[in-house]
Amino acid sequence: MELNLKGKNALVCGSTQGIGKSTATALALEGVNVTLVARNEEKLKQVLQELPNTNKHSYIVADFSFPDDLNSKVISFIKEQHGFHILVNNTGGPKGGNILEATIPEFEQAFTQHIKCNHLLAQTVIPFMKTEGFGRIINIVSTSVKEPIPGLGVSNTIRAAVGNWAKTLATEVGALGITVNNVLPGFTDTERIAEITKANAKKEGISFDEMSQIMKSHAPAKRFAKPEEIANAVVFLASEAAAYITGINLPVDGGRTKSL
Ligand SMILES: NC(=O)c1ccc[n+]([C@@H]2O[C@H](COP(=O)([O-])OP(=O)(O)OC[C@H]3O[C@@H](n4cnc5c(N)ncnc54)[C@H](OP(=O)(O)O)[C@@H]3O)[C@@H](O)[C@H]2O)c1
Repeated sequence: MELNLKGKNALVCGSTQGIGKSTATALALEGVNVTLVARNEEKLKQVLQELPNTNKHSYIVADFSFPDDLNSKVISFIKEQHGFHILVNNTGGPKGGNILEATIPEFEQAFTQHIKCNHLLAQTVIPFMKTEGFGRIINIVSTSVKEPIPGLGVSNTIRAAVGNWAKTLATEVGALGITVNNVLPGFTDTERIAEITKANAKKEGISFDEMSQIMKSHAPAKRFAKPEEIANAVVFLASEAAAYITGINLPVDGGRTKSL
C-alpha cells in the first residue's frame, strides 16, 4: 500500500510524550516534516533530536490552555515557514472524577483545550490544505465519544462534543480533499494511564498492579495498547490511502468498546 506521505508537513500537538510523541515519530519515519507542539521546551528539543531526518523538523512552544496564543504562534510559523497538510489535535486529558463533583471551571478548561484549540487550529491550517487539495485533520480523543467511562465525567462530556465538532467539519470540507477523523485510544501505556491507574487503585484500596490487571481485563486483547499502535492508525488516516475515509470515530482499543 502506498501511503504517499513523503514531503508532507504535519503539525503534531501534545508531542513530547505518549501518543503524540509516537505519532510524530511514526510520521517522521514516513518522510513527513513534523512540527511538534507542547509546553515543555526542553522535552521538545529532546524529541526533535530523536526524530528521523532531524533537519526538516521543528517545534512550537505553546499551551493549549491559551488558545489565542497557541493559534497566533501557529499563524506566525505558517507565515515564516510553511503550511500544514496534516493536523493532529492532541493535548493532555481532562482531570478525572465523577461528574457530580465536577466544577464549572473544570468543564471550561476542558472546553478551552479540546474544542477552542482544535477549532482555531483547524481554521488556521485549512486554507493551505485547500490550496493543496489535500488535508488531514486527526483528533486524538477517547472511546468515551461512544461510551462514557466511569470516573471521567468532564472528559466524557467534552469528548462527545469533539466527536460532533469533527463530524460537522468533515461534512463541510469533504469536497476540498480534506478529511477529518477521530482516533479513539483505549487504555494506552503512557504517563496518562499510569496516573489514572494510580487514582483508581487509591479509590478502590488496592495496589497499582491489581488495578492495572483489572483495567487490562476490560479489553478482549487483555493488555494496554502501545502508543505506537495508536500512532499507526493516525499514520494510515493521514495517508493518501485513506482519502475516502472521513467523519469517523476509530476505536483503537483492543476491542474494549462494546457498541458497534
Ligand atoms: N493513554 C490513554 O490510555 C488514553 C486513552 C484514551 C484517551 N487518551 C487521550 O489521548 C490524549 C493523549 O494521551 P497520552 O496518554 O499520550 O497523554 P500524556 O502522556 O499525558 O501526554 C500528553 C502530551 O500533551 C502535552 N500537553 C499536555 N497538556 C498540554 C497543554 N496544556 N498544552 C500543550 N500541550 C500539552 C504534553 O506535553 P507538555 O507537558 O510538554 O505540554 C504531552 O506531550 C489525551 O487527551 C488523553 O486523555 C489517552
